[in-house]
Amino acid sequence: MKKKLIILKIGGSVITDKNGELAAKTKTINRLAEEIKKSKLDNLVIVHGGGSFGHPTAKKYGIKDGLKQDLQKVGFAETHHVMTVLNGLVMDALIWHNIPALSVTPSSCLITKNGRISLFDETILRTLLNMGIVPVLYGDAILDDQIGFTVISGDQIVSHLAKKFGADKIIIGVDVDGIFDFDPKETKNSKIYSKLNLEELNKIKNSIGASTTSDVTGGMLGKINELSSAIEQDIPVSIINANKPNRLYKALIGANVEGTLIEKE
Ligand code: IPE
Repeated sequence: MKKKLIILKIGGSVITDKNGELAAKTKTINRLAEEIKKSKLDNLVIVHGGGSFGHPTAKKYGIKDGLKQDLQKVGFAETHHVMTVLNGLVMDALIWHNIPALSVTPSSCLITKNGRISLFDETILRTLLNMGIVPVLYGDAILDDQIGFTVISGDQIVSHLAKKFGADKIIIGVDVDGIFDFDPKETKNSKIYSKLNLEELNKIKNSIGASTTSDVTGGMLGKINELSSAIEQDIPVSIINANKPNRLYKALIGANVEGTLIEKE
């Protein structure tokens, strides 16, 4: 892979209504596909989250904590299934915009050990990227060789792939403008950090907080913890509001965009 590689995570909070049930925001998904198309990038990996598809089902059956009783097996299957439904909607939009994108199912190419990736065959991803095809992955219900099964966040996949492939940049599209000193959804006049280094990030971590909705993978704090190891390897992370038109496009083409840029130093 010679060209610059960008790994894009589109949060479940952007493409679904997290307060609804199986509530996809198809207009937003279409707009994001349009912005991706406009960027003309072909060295891109897309990973999307679960929002009101994966999280409620995973929570209902306690999938993240592993297999404890037979009853959960159908919940494991259902969690994966609803993610494939959401993924289908994302794929629809990408392909309708003439983006050569191929869905790569995480539960069929990776396994975790106690929730952390222990096996990930990247052969297919590398081959797709070399052909100029955009692999699309997602947070998923997956097998775990210690606890039976679990839920993997899109963020863990992003961080893993960024490190493995030596990505040039990670873009995280969420439903807030970036990282704030206080939760902007709860505190008026909270201020955005436009730039942070790893040391500064670690200092403010305590005030970032976990998500208040039914997020089984830890909200913004979970994201930051997941991405820290990629930032440590000098891969910059740009957190942007993908609900606001054109921000994703600007981030993809490397233009100046409102958000939080996190770099190692
Ligand atoms: C969660 O993925 C996937 C499931 C719950 C099955 P993420 O943790 O990446 O999803 P979002 O972006 O927070 O919704």
